[in-house]
Amino acid sequence: MPGDKSISHRAAMFAALAEGTSSITNFSTSADCAATLSCLKQLGVSIERENENLLIIGVGSDGLQAPQAPLECGNSGTTMRLLAGILAGQDFNSTLTGDESLRSRPMQRIIEPLQMMGARISSDGGRAPLLIHGHKGLDAISYELLVASAQVKSCILLAGLSVGGRTEVIENQITRDHTERVLSSFGVEVETGEAEREGENARVAAVNGPARLTAQRVSIPGDISSAAYFIAAAALIPGSSLDISDVGVNPTRVVFLERLQALGLEIVVTNGREVNHEPVGIIRVEGPRKQLRTPELPVTIGGLVVPQLIDELPLLAVVGSQIEGGIEIRDAAELRVKESDRIAATAQNLRAMGAVVEEFADGLRVAGPARLRGAKIDPRGDHRIAMAFTVGGLVAEGETEISDPDCVAVSFPEFFGLLESVVER
Ligand code: S3P
Repeated sequence: MPGDKSISHRAAMFAALAEGTSSITNFSTSADCAATLSCLKQLGVSIERENENLLIIGVGSDGLQAPQAPLECGNSGTTMRLLAGILAGQDFNSTLTGDESLRSRPMQRIIEPLQMMGARISSDGGRAPLLIHGHKGLDAISYELLVASAQVKSCILLAGLSVGGRTEVIENQITRDHTERVLSSFGVEVETGEAEREGENARVAAVNGPARLTAQRVSIPGDISSAAYFIAAAALIPGSSLDISDVGVNPTRVVFLERLQALGLEIVVTNGREVNHEPVGIIRVEGPRKQLRTPELPVTIGGLVVPQLIDELPLLAVVGSQIEGGIEIRDAAELRVKESDRIAATAQNLRAMGAVVEEFADGLRVAGPARLRGAKIDPRGDHRIAMAFTVGGLVAEGETEISDPDCVAVSFPEFFGLLESVVER
């Protein structure tokens, strides 16, 4: 699998802020991570290719330069939200913008905590473009997340890197912890642990600024969220057998695998090792031997774990259509403010394939097992919808046509080619 998108964004940004030259292997091929690289270049960072590796010549924590034009984040929420944290404490102004989808997504969730730190940000009613009137002298804060979002957590921690004192973020639902891990591998001490408050899942992550980052050699594990489509396809198609090597198996990202295993799908993770503080393993998948069924009817996915499988929920809805009893997804209103309204897009396309779907404000219920039939899929420009429904197309009878298939390049340009290389006709 190409390198993990979340980890690649962070590795590139931290390498830019580090002292010295970092070398990154298996950097994500996604358009989203290309957007991060081009923004960093506009901020005066030199980035070169050396064979398979990316060399990033760090400018140090004070070395970024004022950009000459707005920073174009494309479709990438991670680029915009994490860079906002870095840019708020610089002594120059910058503008972050993006495509139509990104300009419609909520940014108040980062503006508010950054303003509490003393940042000056103007926006279009809480949406991009964001004008950051950067200045030194932000204050450290302790902030409890109002939305369970790793992007918001990361934005605040990154702003905290440049300010004196302890900046801490408390989360009541666990979100992906790549910022904490990748920052540690760049030599920044990140304190993590249970937060002293009610709620079993409350966690705290803190940095003490001003922090210095040192250049690293980083090897990015394969992207488990990209692997997810292959895992689901192999697990649903009888006779399949698939090994995926060197894939990231960070505990905050593998919950969807545990759910698929609980549904009876044959998935085994082996050979765990750590690379740059990130767990990496081999995932082996076998096709089903019998109708998939579970004791609960329908299976429900909701509650505290949702942020840990948020990107896989459209795919889980497709998989759920093949399970006796079907699937219900709740507590996932965040899906409505992703690259598209993923609840509406999933419901619309599952219905187009003949599934019975009930839509809720915070999720959906899919009846199963359904005999999906090939259909015309409108992914609404959203890479994860296009890939989830490609898996739907593989299990459906008849031909499925995905409009605008190139949108998969946002996270996974190799998707269709790699899939063809493992699917027997
Ligand atoms: C990401 C965090 C998640 C996820 C996104 C990548 C990250 O977003 O959906 O694809 O790299 O931090 P939220 O943290 O906003 O839920």
